[in-house]
Amino acid sequence: MSHSVELSGIGMTFGTTRAVADVNFKVEPGEFFSILGPSGCGKTTILRMIAGFIHPTEGTVRIGGEDMAGRGPNQRPTAMIFQSLALFPLMPVWENIAFGLEARGVGKAERRKKADDLLRLIALEGYGDRMPGELSGGQRQRVAIARALAVEPGVLLLDEPLSALDLKLRQHMRAELRALQKRTGVTFIYITHDQSEALAMSDRVAVMSAGVLQQVATPRELYENPATPFVARFVGETNAIKGRVTASEGGIVTLDTPMGALRGRGTAQAGQGATLFVRPEALIPGGGTLAAQIDRVDFEGAFALVHGRLPDGSALTASVGSTDLARAPAPGAEASFGFAPEHAVVLADA
Ligand SMILES: Nc1ncnc2c1ncn2[C@@H]1O[C@H](COP(=O)(O)OP(=O)(O)OP(=O)(O)O)[C@@H](O)[C@H]1O
Ligand SMILES: [Mg+2]
Repeated sequence: MSHSVELSGIGMTFGTTRAVADVNFKVEPGEFFSILGPSGCGKTTILRMIAGFIHPTEGTVRIGGEDMAGRGPNQRPTAMIFQSLALFPLMPVWENIAFGLEARGVGKAERRKKADDLLRLIALEGYGDRMPGELSGGQRQRVAIARALAVEPGVLLLDEPLSALDLKLRQHMRAELRALQKRTGVTFIYITHDQSEALAMSDRVAVMSAGVLQQVATPRELYENPATPFVARFVGETNAIKGRVTASEGGIVTLDTPMGALRGRGTAQAGQGATLFVRPEALIPGGGTLAAQIDRVDFEGAFALVHGRLPDGSALTASVGSTDLARAPAPGAEASFGFAPEHAVVLADA
């Protein structure tokens, strides 16, 4: 059984800190939904309000359509995996997994069977009698997830569960978590401040900044059509060029900038101050309006990042695929870059 989770007008104030302000979104049953934002933006606070550890100062949390007001964590169909997870070190793996079942009065034989089923699900069959100290970091992480799944939650709340792992393991666990979510059909609400993690794993992503929800969209939509300057800068790499709108027609905005007239998609109106955002991979070396002095070229493996400076002193970064390296300008050179207006987004300044 998976459930929907709906937040309506949710706000949370701690003393004088406005941690979360007027947040609204609905997570569908069985969805992999991420909340993405920098440290301190209110992600954990939102998760704790969904789990029932704290109660919002304003607004309503509904799970499976039911108002959760007045219900504690044990009276909600949720399980939470905390930012700093801990297994019980003196308990074998299977007992760690079955821990929540004992409190619910499930007998030992049935607990062991359930733990073994879950060990199979997380691809750790036969590890039940090991101690947590005899597992790798990624394996411990999977046991923590199995423990949360043991109580058959309709909604699983995960607070940065991969942040302690190294990059390779994190990438491996991303794929595992995603597959596990699909296999179980449980609604996942996943917190991260790592934008590539959110993009790679989620059906939809909510982006937060300073307690305020900026945009809720699919990963592709977020990347291609950021709704606010914050989202444009936070999700993926981008180049930002400031200017003033001189024309706006048919969804294409013309911006007067120190580098001349530039065009991109948007709805900003003539006379408004605005910023044009163009991704490094959308910049094409050779033949364009952006003339840059190249500072350095960083080879990253699959691509190279070309870092330069525009005449007004602002930074410009272009990426060139490894198979195209012959086209990349050299450090010290003067190079021009162009881009198609449909690959740039213009957003009015706040
Ligand atoms: N119990 C509390 N009392 C007072 N302030 C709090 C409390 N819990 C959180 N805050 C404040 O609320 C804001 C949001 O905190 P929260 O833990 O939700 O951030 P976060 O997005 O999870 O950050 P991180 O990525 O660092 O975990 C912060 O400014 C924090 O200091
Ligand atoms: Mg947090």
